[in-house]
Order: sequence, then C-alpha cells, then structure tokens
Amino acid sequence: MRVRPLITSATCAAAIASLAACGTSPAPAIGGEAPVILRLALNQTEKHPSYVALTGFDTRLQQATGGRYRLDVFPNEVLGAQQEVLGLTSDGIIDLAVISGTQLENINPDFRVFNLPRVFDSVEHQMKVINDPAVVGDLYRSLEGDQHLTVLGGFTQGERNLYTKKPVNTPADLAGQKIRVQESPVMLRMITTMGGSPTPMSYGEVYTAMQSGVLDGAENNEVSYFTQKHYEVAPHFTYTKHLVGLDYLVANSEALQKMSPEDRAIFDREWTKTYEEFVTLWDKATKDAIEGATAKGAQFHRIDTAPFDERLEPLARSFLANPTQQQLYDRTRQAATR
Ligand code: GCU
Repeated sequence: MRVRPLITSATCAAAIASLAACGTSPAPAIGGEAPVILRLALNQTEKHPSYVALTGFDTRLQQATGGRYRLDVFPNEVLGAQQEVLGLTSDGIIDLAVISGTQLENINPDFRVFNLPRVFDSVEHQMKVINDPAVVGDLYRSLEGDQHLTVLGGFTQGERNLYTKKPVNTPADLAGQKIRVQESPVMLRMITTMGGSPTPMSYGEVYTAMQSGVLDGAENNEVSYFTQKHYEVAPHFTYTKHLVGLDYLVANSEALQKMSPEDRAIFDREWTKTYEEFVTLWDKATKDAIEGATAKGAQFHRIDTAPFDERLEPLARSFLANPTQQQLYDRTRQAATR
C-alpha cells in the first residue's frame, strides 16, 4: 500500500504553503552556496527530548558541513499528524519525520513486531536490537521501493502505561472505559485484551477528547503525559508497563540520495550521536515529568501487573504472521537474554 498525504486540515495546508515560502531565501553557507534545508516534522512540543535532541542534531550538522546542510524541525504537529506527515515524507514534500512504529506497521506489517507488548524488556534491550543492522537492516530498507522512505533508526518512547480519570488496578476496572490508542491493529487488540474499549485517534486530539469526556483515558509514557498536559484531564497514571514504544526517524529516500558521500557520512555520524544522547535526555525528562505532573496533582500508581501480563503475553505471539516476523521476534527475544 502506498501512503498518500492526507492534507485535510487548514493548519496543515497553511503550513505546507509556508514551507515553500520559507525555503526561498536561505542564508548562504560558508563558501557562498545556499544551504540545503532538510525539513523535519515532529508531533511533540519544544520541551520534549526529541525536539531538544533534533535541534542539537541541526547545530552539529551545520557545523560539520560548513553550513551546507540545515535541519528545520517543525514541532507540535504543525505539518500534520503522523499519518499525514508520513505521506508528505513519502512524496518528498518534507524530508524527514519522527514517526511512531505503530504508523509503520500500517504500511509494512513486519514493523508490528517491535510494537508488540512485552517484546522489549527495557530501553537498553530495545536500543541494542533496533541499532543492530544484522537484525533491522532489511526492515529499515523495506519501504525504499514503493514508499521512497528510508528508516534511519529510532528514539525510544520508553515504557508506556495507562492513564485515566479514575484509578485502575485490574483489567476489570477498565471495563467500558474508552481508551485512546494509536491507529494500529496491535494497539486496538492490546487495549481490548487489557479489558478496555480502544478508540484510535491522532496524538494532538487526545487532550480535548479526554477533556470533553469522549475518552476516559489514554496510554503513553510519563514524558508525553506531562508535556501534553494530559495529567490535567486524566490524573491517575498507572504502571501497567504494557510495552516499550519506539519512534523512528524516517527520511525521504531521494533526499538522502542527493547528498554527496561526504555529507551523507557526516549526516549518519551526527544522527548516531543524536540517538545515543537521546537515551540520557530521556531518563532525565522522565524524572522531570513525574515530578512536574505530581506537583500539578497527578497520582502515579504502582500495581501488581500480573493480571495484565497474563493477558498480554499470548497476544504478542498471536500477531506473528509470517517467517520474517517470527525471525525478528526470535532475534529480539534472544538479545534480551544475552
Ligand atoms: C509518543 C510517541 C509519539 C506518538 C505518541 C502517540 O509520544 O513519542 O511518536 O505519536 O506517543 O501516542 O501518538
């Protein structure tokens, strides 16, 4: 299936129009040539560690290429929600986007393996697997043909947990509760299995939907809970620890091919530094988010996760639909025990 840009909102259309305008008079690079501006779409706020890490990537890229390359990071979903910007990246309207693995699952189901509950034991385990070319090389190149998308690697989303208006201790407490999920088959089945009623929705719509009562809760990490201010409308954060999520940096393949071998090597080197540093930023942001949300009245609940674990463990295996997925899953689990 070819992803198409779905420019449905006025904001998104206006942002796309302004992309053309802001690209017309870039500051000259050292040596007098106009810099190449790589436009990157992000759905997080400027306080989120992805934004902080990517702006650091921009600074280093400019320095290392003598100003030949710049990264322009558009935060806050201004270029559209992830489904939309994936299409825009595929069509080369923008160059790069940070996309949750759940969206990639919709264009190549093999990506679902890394979205499964319980596939990663920790962030450390996840980083080891997703940066091992022997495991992920084919997967990351799998979208280059039809989609013109190259997956460059990822930022962890850390552990994802539930948050709701009322406390949740067991699957029974979730009965009838409408829980927002990312738009993917794995996420829909996961919340059903955990006992709730899943409602797929894009990230930027979640706050208002919880505020208006369309949703009873959502699931995410502490950093999103805090930076999106979801604690204001769902004050009970419960450590169900259902999965360790993953965001990918996805590029338009032609934008990468246009780089000289020297610039591409610099780009890859600085991107590697970016995702390595991200893990440290992430740990600090998680601590700050817990402190910040607690100060605003949120309650963090530790529960016995066994009743959720029992339901989730068989779910992961039931999603493995072909030998590629089985192999990715097996290699991932083997890496956990090494
Ligand atoms: C996290 C993740 C995003 C994702 C979001 C969501 O914040 O980093 O990429 O879009 O969760 O739940 O939609």
